[in-house]
Amino acid sequence: MGRLANKIAVVTGANSGIGLASAKRFASEGARVFMTGRRPRELDAAVAEVGNGARGVQGDIANLADLDRLYEIVAAEADRIDVLFANAGGGSFAALSEITEEEYERTFSTNVKGTLFTVQKALPLLVDGASVILTGSTAASTGSPAFSVYGASKAAIRSFARNWILDLAPRRIRVNVLVPGPTSTPGLHGLASSEDERRAFVAAMEAQVPLGRMATPDETAAAALFLASDDSSFVNGSELFADGGQAQV
Ligand SMILES: NC(=O)c1ccc[n+]([C@@H]2O[C@H](COP(=O)([O-])OP(=O)(O)OC[C@H]3O[C@@H](n4cnc5c(N)ncnc54)[C@H](OP(=O)(O)O)[C@@H]3O)[C@@H](O)[C@H]2O)c1
Repeated sequence: MGRLANKIAVVTGANSGIGLASAKRFASEGARVFMTGRRPRELDAAVAEVGNGARGVQGDIANLADLDRLYEIVAAEADRIDVLFANAGGGSFAALSEITEEEYERTFSTNVKGTLFTVQKALPLLVDGASVILTGSTAASTGSPAFSVYGASKAAIRSFARNWILDLAPRRIRVNVLVPGPTSTPGLHGLASSEDERRAFVAAMEAQVPLGRMATPDETAAAALFLASDDSSFVNGSELFADGGQAQV
């Protein structure tokens, strides 16, 4: 029996990187997985890669009508959610003097507003005792040059988990934050604007990690699986750092 046998899981931001690797892990452990993302072609390819009855639902988590549609589909086809991985997110580099209103709105709309309503609108479908996983970042607890808007948005995620476990206590719903360190995903590599910048950026990241390298998306997905499964049945409101030690030193 898989560790998520007969579970219904929703993974946002599942057409790439950490979300896609997690959808694969969840499905291979027996879950029926609903996968989301904005880009339809990438979503179709990701759903085919995951297989095992995975279902793609295209949408933007910052758009509340898209979230309503997602959960209408889950309600019609599955009736409940056992595991919600609110993972979709992203950011971009801008030093304090260069931050624009547009950059601020884009980052906070996705990472903060989008995560909040992804979880709120799932509440009627979440079973009592469900596992909710939010994706944080080491950028919430350490400083990085030109990354303050992203770091602040992920600090909000940490705060959401601490507070929501109290709001959801009567239903025994667990909420935890998965904190990836540098993970080799299209999203991370896409932060650089040229190949030279990307190489320098990766080398600088690796130098900050005591294990001396970035994580693979599947290593981060293994931590997501732990939080999704009953193996973490008494882990609640915590931050699980899968960061190679980056934020611990
Ligand atoms: N990679 C790292 O080193 C690292 C470290 C710490 C935290 N994280 C966090 O991990 C999560 C996954 O990132 P990743 O590295 O796997 O990046 P990625 O490869 O770019 O994946 C991001 C996923 O989120 C989706 N997404 C982004 N904005 C969305 C929106 N508004 N609505 C719906 N889906 C949206 C993307 O699909 P579409 O573009 O098609 O919508 C994609 O599926 C993010 O929350 C990120 O902040 C990553």
